Amino acid sequence: LKTLEKMRKDVRILLVGEPKVGKTSLIMSLVSEEFPEVVPYRVEEITIPADVTPERVPTHIVDYSGTKRPDLSLFSANVICIVYAVNNKTSIEKVTDHWIPLITENTDKDSRFPLILVGNKSDLVEHSSMETILPIMNQYSEIETCVECSAKNLKNISELFYYAQKAVLHPTGPLYCPEKKD
Ligand code: GTP
Ligand code: MG
Repeated sequence: LKTLEKMRKDVRILLVGEPKVGKTSLIMSLVSEEFPEVVPYRVEEITIPADVTPERVPTHIVDYSGTKRPDLSLFSANVICIVYAVNNKTSIEKVTDHWIPLITENTDKDSRFPLILVGNKSDLVEHSSMETILPIMNQYSEIETCVECSAKNLKNISELFYYAQKAVLHPTGPLYCPEKKD
């Protein structure tokens, strides 16, 4: 494992999720450290230099456009953040109805990579979405962790990207599940 960690040259984080859950806002909030009132539909891939990341590895962040067909960025990612909005039930349902199956279909079964569930817009609700999310976490071993955050008040934004880095560099669960193979 030590050797593997040293060999890892960079981390590629892909954000997916239903339209308008705040994928682009999350990325821009991280980069500018303030909530952008106006965001483009999609931002170009950004690279965070190693020396400003907690794990000291260059980190690329890719904004996935929900309406497009799955593209190659799905294959080159090391970790995928599935973003939902805590105030949008449909966006939570789509995590298991759409996004996890899409990711599974488009990745090699032997090279499963970690997923992180990201509940954005926590500023809009009083209650946590964890009750709904925990059963999903228990169902899919590839989900490394979950986090609730807000691009708007910058809550848990740097944590989210730190968890994503950490999921790649120091995975806690087995990413290879022999019993899942047919
Ligand atoms: P698409 O690119 O269209 O798929 O959307 P997206 O997932 O990139 O969402 P985007 O960042 O464009 O944000 C959608 C809307 O939600 C915008 O009006 C944002 O201002 C708003 N928004 C994003 N994050 C938050 C948040 O944390 N809290 C609140 N209250 N609004 C947010
Ligand atoms: Mg967007």
